[in-house]
Amino acid sequence: MENQSNQKWHNRSHTCGELTEGHGGSVVNLLGWVLKRRDHGQLIFIDLRDQFGVTQIVIDPAVSSQVHDLGHSLRHEYVLAVQGKVVLRPQEMVNKDMKTGAIEVLVDNLVVLNKSEPLPFSVSDMSDASESLRLKYRYLDLRRTTMKQKILDRSKITSLARRALEEFGFSDLETPFLYKSTPEGAREFLVPSRVNPGQFYALPQSPQLFKQLFMVSGFDRYYQIVKCFRDEDLRADRQPEFTQIDCEMSFVNEEMILKTFESVIQKVFNGFFSGQSLGSFQRITYHDAMENYGCDKPDLRFDLKLQDVGSLVKDCQFQVFSQAQSLGGIVNCLVVKNCASKYSRKKIDQLTDLAKNYGVKGLAWAKKQSETAASSWQSPIAKFFTDAEINQINDKCDVQDNDLILFSAGPYEAVKSSLSAVRNFLGKELNLYNSLDFKFAWVVEFPLFEKDLQSGRLMARHHPFCMPREEDLDLLESNPEQARAAAYDLVCNGYEIGGGSVRVHNPNIQQKIFELIGLSEEEAQKKFGFLLQALKYGAPPHGGIAFGLDRLVMILTHSEAIRDVIPFPKTQKATCLMTDAPSQVGDDQLRDLHIKKYIIDFDGQDL
Ligand code: AMO
Ligand code: AMP
Repeated sequence: MENQSNQKWHNRSHTCGELTEGHGGSVVNLLGWVLKRRDHGQLIFIDLRDQFGVTQIVIDPAVSSQVHDLGHSLRHEYVLAVQGKVVLRPQEMVNKDMKTGAIEVLVDNLVVLNKSEPLPFSVSDMSDASESLRLKYRYLDLRRTTMKQKILDRSKITSLARRALEEFGFSDLETPFLYKSTPEGAREFLVPSRVNPGQFYALPQSPQLFKQLFMVSGFDRYYQIVKCFRDEDLRADRQPEFTQIDCEMSFVNEEMILKTFESVIQKVFNGFFSGQSLGSFQRITYHDAMENYGCDKPDLRFDLKLQDVGSLVKDCQFQVFSQAQSLGGIVNCLVVKNCASKYSRKKIDQLTDLAKNYGVKGLAWAKKQSETAASSWQSPIAKFFTDAEINQINDKCDVQDNDLILFSAGPYEAVKSSLSAVRNFLGKELNLYNSLDFKFAWVVEFPLFEKDLQSGRLMARHHPFCMPREEDLDLLESNPEQARAAAYDLVCNGYEIGGGSVRVHNPNIQQKIFELIGLSEEEAQKKFGFLLQALKYGAPPHGGIAFGLDRLVMILTHSEAIRDVIPFPKTQKATCLMTDAPSQVGDDQLRDLHIKKYIIDFDGQDL
């Protein structure tokens, strides 16, 4: 009976998620893992699990005493083959929450295909194992139904994206991993070359330049679901290796690109949520996103906009505000409706601490009181304002009784990002949206350049191959800082899930952009001469986008972090707890690579 080589046992007739009332009376073969075992002495109940579900197995000594003896020795996660008859459960034992809840399988034959040592944590969905333990035994963590479902959802989304792109005429084309440094901004992972002593490849941050070269080669539409590597500080939505759905198309303008990829995402969504469709995506300019939401990836599931009160407070007695204005900064506020009474001093202090992480020294606040109160505002700063000033703010921002006003004052970036963080926090805390909603939007008209705060020099905001918007071409000469790019991001629920641009295919414009960012002809040639050369041989107008697959899956599956939707992710410290990567390598391996061991720690000390 325990003969594992008996091939017959490997032919399952059904999966563990399949049997219903209609199968009553049939004899079935199932394969799976012991999820739970309840040994009642006489009857033994086993929950048998596979990818598809769970089926209750009953071992009754009256059916086979041999199987019953074996049944006592079964433990969690043993791998079994069972044969038995499907019987209907008594009415009171039917489990309506399980697809197989109406039946059980009365076993007459059972083979243990493999045993399991006791697990470091339970793989039931209730398991409260720490994340580090789960990552160390990720292969067990992935046995849990919710985790497995996320990874299967990822597979489904990937497949839907492929199908949609191929339907739109995109061809799946590959690009190399052993690559050259590209000017995209993030720090790169380097790979030493054994056959070229002292030289290094870089792992690609994205296949950006290669996909443009495909267009030069005359491939009309390219896509690739591809790993990208960036040596960045990690966050919940950032991993050192992540996956892009990378796309490029020729003979297109911005509008054609946005329409095409909106349809692609709509098809993926529609396929994943069985026919549900999204309305057409809102479009919002970068300028409006920053003004109203304080960031370029606004969560549009709720309103709560930032409001500018700078002009109303420029002459007020509260120096934090008047100075911010006179020093070229701004004063913005959020009016949080009808919740002044809910916000104690302590809770406002929490919001202030959050704001301080973004470079402002604090948050000022006021609670609007009813007309019968002595002052319209209950606020530590009320004393600095005249009644007229308070009324103007109340009117402009439509402040009603019991509203809480939160002010941030200072440099533009700090004010916007602090209130944006507070806005996102309040949206969640006050349930201002339905967490099952999706609000996709295109953010358009990004600035072409940004200024490096230290050197004052212009830098490409995305990468230096972004086309300026046609109506802004003249600004390259007159006022380059104001020039906007034909670049766009797709955002959803407060995350950037894709970004791209129309590319420069005109050598003169390219030259001008390099000049503006202070890149000499020689440097440009050294960094990406191959692309510049290629653009001279009849490059078609082209453009594209890359979606972060991990982020898209995270959002569509309502997960907290991209770690949850990556089968084998890295920790916050970029390590793999399962394989112990990264690790030291032997001196002989280094010698092969012509590398002399000389390692310094973060403080520059020899290790
Ligand atoms: P970009 O740098 O905006 O554009 O990247 C495109 C998308 O990739 C995702 N993403 C990440 N996801 C997880 N972890 C990371 N560390 C990470 N970094 C980026 C984001 C982002 O929107 N070559 C250009 C695209 C183009 O111009 O066509 C590029 O890589 O969702
Ligand atoms: P202070 O002048 O530091 O005593 O601050 C007075 C009040 O102004 C406190 O409630 C602070 O939280 C608030 N405050 C300080 N800096 C800012 C700022 N940059 N923006 C808005 N409020 C601030």
